[in-house]
Amino acid sequence: MIQLYKLKSPIVILNFKTYLESSGENALNLAKALESAGEESGITMVASPQAADIYRIKDETSILLLSQHIDPISPGGNTGANLFETLLDNGIDGSLLNHSEKRMELADIDLITQKLNENQLISCICSNNVSTSMAAASLNPTFVAIEPPELIGTGIPVSKAEPEVVEGSVKNVRKINKDVKVLCGAGISTGEDMAQAIELGAEGVLLASGIIKADNPKEALLDLVSKI
Ligand code: G3P
Repeated sequence: MIQLYKLKSPIVILNFKTYLESSGENALNLAKALESAGEESGITMVASPQAADIYRIKDETSILLLSQHIDPISPGGNTGANLFETLLDNGIDGSLLNHSEKRMELADIDLITQKLNENQLISCICSNNVSTSMAAASLNPTFVAIEPPELIGTGIPVSKAEPEVVEGSVKNVRKINKDVKVLCGAGISTGEDMAQAIELGAEGVLLASGIIKADNPKEALLDLVSKI
């Protein structure tokens, strides 16, 4: 069960995706870098590794862990799927849902968000524009993470390229559900990018390649939070 005090803003969520630099043994090393950067900076840092790497990271760190996806299924015959109960048993503190690289139907996002909420776990629903941010907020998740898909993996920060999408999500999510925190992502990698995101009203960032591909991920994480 998550300890809510660990979720103080601002927050950094690192999506490990399926880069080789963040898979297997490298996933563990990256999680340790994240843990150590979090301890040094005092900023809440959360890892979202592949399902196969959750147990090894849980075993060797005390970092908060989100799965990258949960399938809307019940236990039984679902070969290849990610079952909520298994992920929970292996130590997740919550999950990303509806990432642009793993879109879900609205009813399924709702189902899994409810399961996470019932277990007092973190739910982070990704959205691609202001309207989907609003729809996501109505499902009562912990976070809505706005990520324009066209900027993902480009190194062009959403906070600079599409500030209106971040501000619009913050303003409209607040109208729908003031308890939901808004994060932003896509192209975020530097301290300046994160500072701009916070100025736009985001309570943190969801990011990947800028840190995962950095020569020294821990230094990159410390730079990310250096201007807030
Ligand atoms: O979930 C994070 C993400 O999609 C952003 O990716 O590589 O642009 O930081 P990236």
